[in-house]
Amino acid sequence: MPRSRWKHAFSGLAIAAMLWGSWPSVRAQEAHSETFATPQVAAAAPERLALWPVSARARQSDPLLEARVAAIVSRMTLEQKIGQMTQADIRSITPEDVRRHYIGSILNGGGAWPNMQRRASPADWAALSGAFYTASMSTDMATQVPIIWGTDAVHGHNNVYGATLFPHNIGLGAARDPDLVQRIGRSTARAARATGITWVFAPTLAVVQDQRWGRSYESFSSDPALVRDYAAHYVRGLQGDLNAASDVVATAKHFLGDGGTFRGADQGDTRVPLSDLIATHAQGYYGALEANVQTVMASYNSWNETGAGERGVRMHANRYLLTDVLKGRLGFDGFVVSDWNAIEQAPGCRRTSCPDAINAGIDMVMVPEDWLAFIRDTVEDVRRGAIPMSRIDDAVSRIVRVKLRSGLFDANPAATAAAMPADAIADAELAREAVRESLVLLKDDRRVLPLRRGIRLLVVGKGADSLSLQSGGWSRTWQGTENTNEDFATGETLLTAIQRTIGPERVTYSETGAGINVRRFDAVIAVLAETPYAEMRGDIAFPATLSHSARYPEDLAALDAVSGQGVPVVTVLYSGRTLFANDLINRSDAFVAAWLPGTEAGGIADVLFRAPNGRAQHDFTGRLPFAWPRTPCDSVGHGARFQIGYGLSYARQRRVGRLPEALAPCAQ
Ligand code: GLC
Repeated sequence: MPRSRWKHAFSGLAIAAMLWGSWPSVRAQEAHSETFATPQVAAAAPERLALWPVSARARQSDPLLEARVAAIVSRMTLEQKIGQMTQADIRSITPEDVRRHYIGSILNGGGAWPNMQRRASPADWAALSGAFYTASMSTDMATQVPIIWGTDAVHGHNNVYGATLFPHNIGLGAARDPDLVQRIGRSTARAARATGITWVFAPTLAVVQDQRWGRSYESFSSDPALVRDYAAHYVRGLQGDLNAASDVVATAKHFLGDGGTFRGADQGDTRVPLSDLIATHAQGYYGALEANVQTVMASYNSWNETGAGERGVRMHANRYLLTDVLKGRLGFDGFVVSDWNAIEQAPGCRRTSCPDAINAGIDMVMVPEDWLAFIRDTVEDVRRGAIPMSRIDDAVSRIVRVKLRSGLFDANPAATAAAMPADAIADAELAREAVRESLVLLKDDRRVLPLRRGIRLLVVGKGADSLSLQSGGWSRTWQGTENTNEDFATGETLLTAIQRTIGPERVTYSETGAGINVRRFDAVIAVLAETPYAEMRGDIAFPATLSHSARYPEDLAALDAVSGQGVPVVTVLYSGRTLFANDLINRSDAFVAAWLPGTEAGGIADVLFRAPNGRAQHDFTGRLPFAWPRTPCDSVGHGARFQIGYGLSYARQRRVGRLPEALAPCAQ
């Protein structure tokens, strides 16, 4: 498939310039920002909404569909409406609960599998989906409304045993290939539908500005124009036209500003002017809306907290952004789902009751365990007038609209799953292609790459033979740390790929490289890695260092054991972010940023080694999606060692030379 070059001349700068032209009015408006951060205020002033470019949404209203929506909602009781707005985790609810309480949605949080069997088959997943669906269609409602199951399939159908895992988004950003991203969306949708699931909580559209954030790898890039372009392609891949048996509902997340929090703190405060919120953090949503995305997930972060204590006003209670901007100005007519118990972070709220969040524009509430209490308390909130029935009817209408559009009323997802091939969750060739395109060559001063096949090779490093380390977080479990190679059922580590490529008899593996006579070998490949993490557990909290070897000394030790002995060293680094790595780069003749490649590390071997005829098989085409830090403290955009867009190739070399290692730690 020819690489569709990333073509957008359109850039975040162009958007900012457009806004800059209105800068005085934006600046004047900033003084009022705090008045729009609290949900009780009236709709936003028109001039403030006008600063948001109007989106070119793909879908127009359908009168017949809207009539069906109105008819269904008009016949629902209050309890049925609130049940429809409730999303519970499969570990905390049964199909009978769904029937009795009119539950509208379920999810499987990371580490939840059917009957808690981590090796559950696609058929097991589909059977459970079928049971929940049947229960939802067996209520005493005037019109049955089917349940919708959402899952975090964020790099393939990553919770499911045997599913192929694609590179995480940071690697896809390095590939600069929107067509590839659309094909990955297509493949992920097919895998989800093979398990009876019709809603995927992807893509993440964070435009990460500080790699300290533990979710940096879920972001495509710090470049808003790239994120916008990818958003549209990924959503088209997932949703298709919402009518095929392999289409799913997509989710643009997390709205808004999740990648811009102060010092990259997860769920922190995004302190930026409105102009930056629009020109940087909102760009992915323009792309997703252009592709007709049907759901948006609200973000944990706050925006310009108003000094209202440690947490400030959270996004989940920000009516200006959730309703006036997203639903009003940008015309989004799908539904907004909360994040995991996130409504409890809004001032004066708890996880079972938050009128401010519902009134601000949250339509469906992810309340994994306490769903029954949420229904009870929220029914009471409506009865006591804290939430107008008009807002409830709008929320339920949005949910029913998406379910009608996605064909959920027409067939049990388990039935369509049964018609799909058993290997629908596998797509190793596409994943391997993505891995090849994601690799960024940072250094190759002595031009040691590509390696010949007829060599004696030493492989070192803890990352060489670990599917877990190469897959990162959101892999079979939430954190991705409780896995052995056997927990993946499919996939190839770089070590096994190298053995397959040049013959196991030519390969010696030593995790530490200690005591090895390196001079017996023609070359060394060192595979270094961060250990997997997800969300806040991956934060590098300021002033902690961005230096990889300070956090993982075993990797520096492995390089010290093999470098400087006249034998070329090729280093491959698995990481969820750009890092300070001058010491590692100095000890490497060639250095490859491989991000988190997923299950198919064979794509790395495809690029590192020559073909049997001695020619290069695949050249490096990846480009940095984020700047590479110059010091152990700076992150994106501040004093880059390698700028965003940097990447060498066999055809295009640049000498890196020796880099400074002794650098001052982060000043408070
Ligand atoms: C998490 C994440 C969100 C995910 C949700 C369900 O907290 O913030 O991205 O979709 O919960 O797992």
